[in-house]
Amino acid sequence: MEDTPILNRQRRLRDALGSADLDALVLNPGPTLTYLTGMHFHLMERPIVGIFPAEGPAALILPELETPKTEGAPFELLPFPYGEDPSRWGETFRRAAQSLALDGKRLGVESVRLRYLELTYLQEAAPHARFISAPEVIASLRMVKDAAEILAMRKAVAIAQDALRATLPLIRLGMSEKELASELVLQLLRHGSEPQLPFFPIVAGGPNSANPHAVPTERPIRAGELLLIDWGATVEGCYSDLTRTFALGELSDPELGRVAEVVAQANAAGRAAARPGLPAGEVDAAARRVIAEAGYGQYFTHRTGHGLGRDGHEPPYIYAENTRPLAPGMTFTVEPGIYLPGRGGVRIEDDMLVTVNGAESLSDLPRELGIGDWVNG
Ligand code: CO
Repeated sequence: MEDTPILNRQRRLRDALGSADLDALVLNPGPTLTYLTGMHFHLMERPIVGIFPAEGPAALILPELETPKTEGAPFELLPFPYGEDPSRWGETFRRAAQSLALDGKRLGVESVRLRYLELTYLQEAAPHARFISAPEVIASLRMVKDAAEILAMRKAVAIAQDALRATLPLIRLGMSEKELASELVLQLLRHGSEPQLPFFPIVAGGPNSANPHAVPTERPIRAGELLLIDWGATVEGCYSDLTRTFALGELSDPELGRVAEVVAQANAAGRAAARPGLPAGEVDAAARRVIAEAGYGQYFTHRTGHGLGRDGHEPPYIYAENTRPLAPGMTFTVEPGIYLPGRGGVRIEDDMLVTVNGAESLSDLPRELGIGDWVNG
């Protein structure tokens, strides 16, 4: 078979399993299974498991109705389909476990994904196997993006930026946060995002912007307030995740304007610090220092960022204590914020790609408050 991203990823997985002394990786549907197969399955009441041995072909236990997805797989695959009678499903798991000789083996699992349903079937089929949480095996594969993923993320950032540009002129004072968020979702889809968005956009006006994980409400958008928008798009299963904060006319609380300047400086400092070999925690330190020196340290209540790819949050996490060195091909967010309870919050989030000699911001939408000029009364 010719060399494809999928074959490459599977080869790297086999190497990683060898180094971790694991005999196989067992996966539920999710980003890692899609990463390794190019196929999309979803979690449902019927069990689905992908098994990737350190040696030999991968296997997939799945409902018969899902088998068309495996036709034309660009790699060698042993399918174990089952019918609709749940009393026969255990048999299929036993056949698969026997065929792959799983009993007594060391099986890596993705602890944040593997469900009790599938784990129970696997334990019954291979009673002497050991199930071992293997987050580092998965991180070592997925943290450094390949060319296909970087291209998809660039497109996801471009779509998110274009969608926001198309949404801003549609803002009317008095419309609700929810209405604006709906409009943004429409624009994301129109501009080419896959329907499975990374998350429903956050649109938070006035005091709601002081809540970092706000959910859009019926509150009307008002003049003189901050408006925080956190949104992203999906291309080939890869995400973008951006935040911009706007001021609707002249702010009635002038300190929030000062806060916005400090956050913009912190965002710039975080972006400028990123380079290969630097511990991830140093990016956090660079952004946090700016905010602490301005006297707002206690109002920056979260880490500076998180890895981004096929999960909305994935390694490398950008928090103070993280000594993991950055490497070319890693992608993560820089998103410092200052949140003044009851008054308002500002966050500015960009998506970074570590390069051979530094880092590139994939996003370039203006980061200033953009006071007023696009707001329609
Ligand atoms: Co984020």
